[in-house]
Amino acid sequence: MKTTSGSSLDKSRLPRHLAIIMDGNGRWAKSKGLPRVAGHKAGVDSVREIVRACSDLRIPVLTLYAFSTENWARPQDEVTDLMGLLAFALRREADMLDKNDVRLQAIGHIAGLPQSVRSEVERAVDKLKDNTGLLLNLALNYGARQEIVDGVNRLIAEGRKSVSADELSGALYTAGLPDPDLVIRTSGEMRVSNFLLWQIAYSELYVTPVFWPDFRREHLHAALADYQRRPRRFGGV
Ligand code: IPE
Ligand code: IPE
Ligand code: MG
Repeated sequence: MKTTSGSSLDKSRLPRHLAIIMDGNGRWAKSKGLPRVAGHKAGVDSVREIVRACSDLRIPVLTLYAFSTENWARPQDEVTDLMGLLAFALRREADMLDKNDVRLQAIGHIAGLPQSVRSEVERAVDKLKDNTGLLLNLALNYGARQEIVDGVNRLIAEGRKSVSADELSGALYTAGLPDPDLVIRTSGEMRVSNFLLWQIAYSELYVTPVFWPDFRREHLHAALADYQRRPRRFGGV
């Protein structure tokens, strides 16, 4: 891989919002003859490094897809492992996030998560609420179709007979955030898997074959360099 250092990136043309579909933990584990949970554990190390890297680059918003509404279809053992790991990682990483001035927000159907995860989310969000650096947006029990339906229903409940695109944007979990400029998906899958469907209408997409547990700062820099080489047209010329 051609390596790109952070210093060669154009700091004035970084995404204002980077969103990542962290995929390939299971395949990473399988390639090493390990159980899938080992891949999820190793994936936490990538999260730590990528959060720090985004924070160092002064990227304003990072959204990480950690658990989808469809992931409940996995074997019960794996779901239990994932929930345990989420709660554990939130607790263990809170100090690191704080030192990096990171603020935390969770998007998704948070009420549908086990109480153990919910309380760690709440604790971390509260601990980090006054920070002013990177906003880390964790997509947990997140599904974009559900998000859109919830938003529409909320507007209907408020008495609206019809809604504009801006009003709907404001009724989503991501209200107030810029749309993602760049979506990265690791481990080669060419699909969006119910992630931010409304918000990625004009996002640049970057798919890398690298499994999430192997995704490091240099891979992020390569993705950002690729993004910076692309002309964005938004339907214009
Ligand atoms: C991503 O890795 C983690 C979650 C979806 C929670 P996967 O567990 O999907 O790994 P693969 O796609 O099976 O390799
Ligand atoms: C997308 O990965 C969801 C997350 C990264 C949390 P999946 O592994 O669940 O997606 P599919 O099943 O390959 O579409
Ligand atoms: Mg997967």
